[in-house]
Amino acid sequence: VEDLPPLLTGFEAAARERLEPGPLSYYASGAGAEITLRENVEAWERLRLAPRMLVGVETRDLSTTLLGRPRPHPLVTAPMAFMRLAHPDGELGLARAAAATGTPFTLATLANTSQEQLAAGGAETSRWFQVYVFRDRGVTDALVEAAAEHGFEALVLTVDLPVVGLRETDVTLGYELPADMPIPALEGLNAGGGQTLAASLSVIDPGLRWSDLELLADGPLPVIVKGVLRPDDARHAIDHGAAAVVVSNHGGRQLDTVLPTADALPPIVDEVGGEIDVLVDGGIRRGTDVLKAVALGARGVLVGRPLLWGLTVGGEAGARRVLELLLEDLDRSLALAGSPRLSDLVESLLAN
Ligand SMILES: Cc1cc2nc3c(=O)[nH]c(=O)nc-3n(C[C@H](O)[C@H](O)[C@H](O)COP(=O)(O)O)c2cc1C
Repeated sequence: VEDLPPLLTGFEAAARERLEPGPLSYYASGAGAEITLRENVEAWERLRLAPRMLVGVETRDLSTTLLGRPRPHPLVTAPMAFMRLAHPDGELGLARAAAATGTPFTLATLANTSQEQLAAGGAETSRWFQVYVFRDRGVTDALVEAAAEHGFEALVLTVDLPVVGLRETDVTLGYELPADMPIPALEGLNAGGGQTLAASLSVIDPGLRWSDLELLADGPLPVIVKGVLRPDDARHAIDHGAAAVVVSNHGGRQLDTVLPTADALPPIVDEVGGEIDVLVDGGIRRGTDVLKAVALGARGVLVGRPLLWGLTVGGEAGARRVLELLLEDLDRSLALAGSPRLSDLVESLLAN
């Protein structure tokens, strides 16, 4: 733990040195010319703050409410596949890091760890299950049912991957998943390790429609729709039973040149923010990014790649340090912005 980088930015540099080219490309790359990948980060950076002075910030409060439950802060771990490419601790490592910091953990359908293993793994925190709907609906139905049985709190239905985006460095490298790497959700399907990353995603049904959301929302768990970029789609999500939406472009990994999430968020908050929770992800790298997202109306903020860098560098301890550094930075940013309570953040803190 002593030799972990002291700054958030240090983790990415250290992880890039440590990872083999194939896994590094899978984690780091975006689709196409990686315009959206870059602009996700830049769009938060571009927003300017207009802080208040002399309001007394000796006591700070990061707490909020998400899916109707009180939470110590607005962070959530983004669903990400294949965490054992980062570190043998894999999903359990990140889940325990999440538990240590009061962060809900999202298990991906394409995780290397099963729902059972996660539920039994001592990571006592809110668990969400990310759903990819497979062509073989029986497999998906079983996973959804098992998620409820294993105490998951919500489903996260990813709607922006009907087919896989063209991630060019992955194609160039032709990297194949280790044949012995477990992907529990794919057992029984003719898919899994020993094939390219894109091939492992070809089990996903490109025929998904809003009516399928309705079926899922009729089940016992609330459904969070992840991957919405337009106000009218956020409205469709509500109309078909969603409990929340995540404004997301899949970290710039799907359709390149879509708008960055910081730009997509405000009109979606205007349309549906009064009715359901709006969350956001993509390019969140610092406390100021989280502060800006919440000031623009996001109730929750998902963190993606920075956690993979933490996991790569130090397993569970590395991921935990990344979450702690991000929360410390958020706390400091609230003090400096003159808005000591996160729930009091208002859009007028932004100067643009
Ligand atoms: C390596 C990697 C794997 C991912 N796998 C999934 C996945 O299985 N399901 C999903 O809904 N999103 C997946 N995502 C997207 C993330 O949930 C999230 O939307 C994105 O990473 C946020 O952007 P950020 O990495 O800039 O924080 C993945 C992202 C990365 C980087």
